[in-house]
Parts: sequence; C-alpha cells; structure tokens
Amino acid sequence: MQTSWVPFVPPSASTLSGKLDALYFYLSGVTIFFTLLISGVLIFFVIKYRRRTPWEIPRPVAGSHKLETLWSVIPFIIAMSMFVWGAQLFFEQSRPPNNAVEVYVVGKQWMWKIQHSTGQREINELHVPAGRKIKLIMTTEDVIHDFFIPAFRIKADVIPGRYTTQWFEATKPGSYYLFCAEYCGMNHSGMIGSVVVMEPTEFDDWLGGNASQQSPAVAGQQLYETLGCVSCHGAAGEGGRGPALAGLFGRQVFLSNGQTVKADEAYIRESVVNPQAKLVAGFGPIMPTFQGQVSEEQLMQILAFIKSLQIQTPGAPGPGPAATPGAVASPTTNTRSRGR
Ligand code: CUA
Repeated sequence: MQTSWVPFVPPSASTLSGKLDALYFYLSGVTIFFTLLISGVLIFFVIKYRRRTPWEIPRPVAGSHKLETLWSVIPFIIAMSMFVWGAQLFFEQSRPPNNAVEVYVVGKQWMWKIQHSTGQREINELHVPAGRKIKLIMTTEDVIHDFFIPAFRIKADVIPGRYTTQWFEATKPGSYYLFCAEYCGMNHSGMIGSVVVMEPTEFDDWLGGNASQQSPAVAGQQLYETLGCVSCHGAAGEGGRGPALAGLFGRQVFLSNGQTVKADEAYIRESVVNPQAKLVAGFGPIMPTFQGQVSEEQLMQILAFIKSLQIQTPGAPGPGPAATPGAVASPTTNTRSRGR
C-alpha cells in the first residue's frame, strides 16, 4: 500500500484528489490564520488595555462604521470563495462523465462484489487502469454500506433498493485501500479491500486474461430469456404487451398517470421489482413482480442488457439490439493513453 509524505493525509492518486486537497488546505489555512490572528490580537489587547489603577474608568467607545464594514465584507468574501470553490468541486465529483467505463459494485455483509462490464468478477479487489474514467454503479444486498477510496477522495453510501454512482480517474499505478465507511454490523471493520491501479496496457492484459467470463449484458440477456421477459418485451416492441426495451435507457417515459420520468438505473430496477409503481402510458398493470426472484447482481445484469439495447441509427455504428460480448462498452473502445 502506498502512503503519503504527510502521515495523516492519504496518498493522492486521482484527478480529483489534488483539487480536493487544495480546497482542504485552503480551509485549514484560513482557519489557522484567523485562529492565530484573533488569539494574537486578543492577548495583545488584554495586555495593552489592562486596568492599571483600581479607580481607572474606561474611555467611552462610539464604534466605527469603517471597521464594521471591513469585518463584514472580508469574511463574506472568504465564505463565498469557500462556497463557490466547494460547489464547483462537488458538481465535478457528483456528475460522472458520459464516456466513463462502468463497473458494477454490490455490497454484502461483509464484502464488496465487483463486476466489470466485460464480465470479470472480483471480491474485495478492484482493478482499474490509470488515466481512464471509471463510473461505479453501486447497490447492496442487505444493509447500508459505504464505498470509500481515501486515495481518490471519493466516498458514497451504498443503499438497499437504490443505485448510487460515483466516478474517478486514477492517476498513479499502485495499490490503495478500499474501505466500508458505514457501520454495517459485526464485521464492518473487516469489510476492506484494495484498489489496484495498473498501466492501461497491463490492465488490458489483465482483462484479456479472464476473457472467458460472461459480460453482465450477456448474462442479462439470458435472464431476459429464461425469466420470460422476452414474451412481452420484444426488443423492438414485438410481443406488444409490454413497452419496447430498445433505446429505453436514458429516454423520457410517459406514464399512465400523466407524468414523465427518465428511464435511468433506478427506474428500470423499480420496474422489475415493483412493475405497478410507474406504469407506462398505454399498458395495463399485467406484469408480475420479480421481487425475490432476482438478486441484486442479476438486476444489474438485466440493467446492463437493457443499456446495451440501443436503437441502430443509420451511419452511427453502435451496439445492436442483440447484445453480444462486443456490444457492451468494452474498455478497448474507451482507450485513452496516459500521455498528455
Ligand atoms: Cu459494510 Cu461497513
């Protein structure tokens, strides 16, 4: 494990970590500066204006508009600088870039189960290439956990029945700690692992070395067939009893109650486990629930399959309705060298 030169600061190994540290040091610097300034002035005034004789009467003070303006405006500007800088970083951190490689994470008492979009599975280990953007799509099978990589300065709760996401771009090859940062029961402290950042070429070899594994999208397609989804949800609308799935992900969906929702990860998950919650306009409440019949990992596979079903537009080569291993976003389509 890599350590940093400051004993209480974790190593800095992502595109975000340096920016976050700069903000953190700014906050600490402002705090230290004003603590010293105020205590220094306090001690100085206590000595300078001490009572020298028992019968001394202090001179009346009328106040100063100039001083009051100054000590209101300066702190305001400092506070706003913290707000603007912090908000800007928050937005950057909370919006995964569109071209990020997706990795699925499922928390479970007391381990992290990870699957890459090409199919590789890992437990308590996450292998990633340096210099590529990685988006984690996370959920849990049981209680709330929290996926925390100190060296990347990212941390997000992993919540039952919901998908949370976070993203990072690692900068330095090496091995870094991965923690669960939410008390989740007896072995919470043992729910740790490591993130192994590799050079992109080395990573591609590593991915290729386990190539026999099934990608989540292909596994999802098998579930789609074995669970019988296919009989109502033909990929292009055939079947007719359920809405078409091709091109669904990311689209606005009109509901029977007149509302519109975006078909994101959460919506698709809900439509599988609780189909009656948001009925698509024009369709009846005939779909049975799949609650308890599919695990969180299988739900993620179904999600990966639906994501892979894009509508083929002429001239834009993209993944077709039939999900093949090559149809999911494979890291090779996303290669970006580390050179700048
Ligand atoms: Cu999982 Cu703490």
